Amino acid sequence: MKKEPKYVAFATQKGGAGKTTLTVLVASYLHYVKGYEVAVIDCDYPQHSIHQMRERNFQMVEGDEYYKGMAYEQIMRLGGKKFYHVIDSSPEEALADARNLEEQWDFDFIFFDLPGTINSMGVTQTLLNVDYIISPISADRVVLESTLNYLLALREQIKKIGQTHIKGIYLLWNMVDGREKSELYEVYEAVIAELGFPLLKTFIPDSKRFRREQTIGHKALFRSTLFPADKSLIKGSHLDALIDELLEILK
Ligand SMILES: Nc1ncnc2c1ncn2[C@@H]1O[C@H](COP(=O)(O)OP(=O)(O)O)[C@@H](O)[C@H]1O
Ligand SMILES: [Mg+2]
Repeated sequence: MKKEPKYVAFATQKGGAGKTTLTVLVASYLHYVKGYEVAVIDCDYPQHSIHQMRERNFQMVEGDEYYKGMAYEQIMRLGGKKFYHVIDSSPEEALADARNLEEQWDFDFIFFDLPGTINSMGVTQTLLNVDYIISPISADRVVLESTLNYLLALREQIKKIGQTHIKGIYLLWNMVDGREKSELYEVYEAVIAELGFPLLKTFIPDSKRFRREQTIGHKALFRSTLFPADKSLIKGSHLDALIDELLEILK
């Protein structure tokens, strides 16, 4: 029987919130570590950041015996499993591209990386057709206010249409400064709770490893579409906790 893949989008109107970064980290971890079948629809037209990252990742591997060996070893270890698909798409074509992929293969998860545009028919249409939306937020009043307004508008749309695929809209603290969340977060969390948006227990700290992509001298990789984040860098990133929590929700 054909699987019904879960559609997931890290989405917010705010650029630089971590949508693309989290999409890649979570997709790679689920595909290469947890053994799920994953695909990414890159709808961030015209930037196509994930598609471009994939190109850079391939170039890095092709030009380097060490990474070539690492890729070969991974493919062997995963029983011939291929790298996940990254489809060059747009908000308007995203759903059709996803359905097209599903005809060719059984997927567990399909991720949509959308641009931060508001008032775009394509973006709204795609968002209304995903199963889960995870909205990365940071403890900045202006960012938080506009993100909550964005999600409230989306919730209004859902109500108007009456039926939707969306099973949950969750907020996720990203780029948290320091080891623990400060008191300021409690104030914001009270507002979030009042509006009825669930917040993931896991928060993602602010850390340089999220910004780095290629490494010098074959240091451990973190953000890549070809490999999962290295164990040594997962420690302290909360990525493992995020995956566990997401799998509980998405199951
Ligand atoms: N937890 C984090 N700590 C540090 N930098 C982060 C973190 N999450 C994302 N970033 C960085 O912030 C920038 C914007 O992230 P990106 O994923 O491109 O955002 P978006 O897709 O929402 O526009 C990138 O340089 C990324 O590496
Ligand atoms: Mg992006």
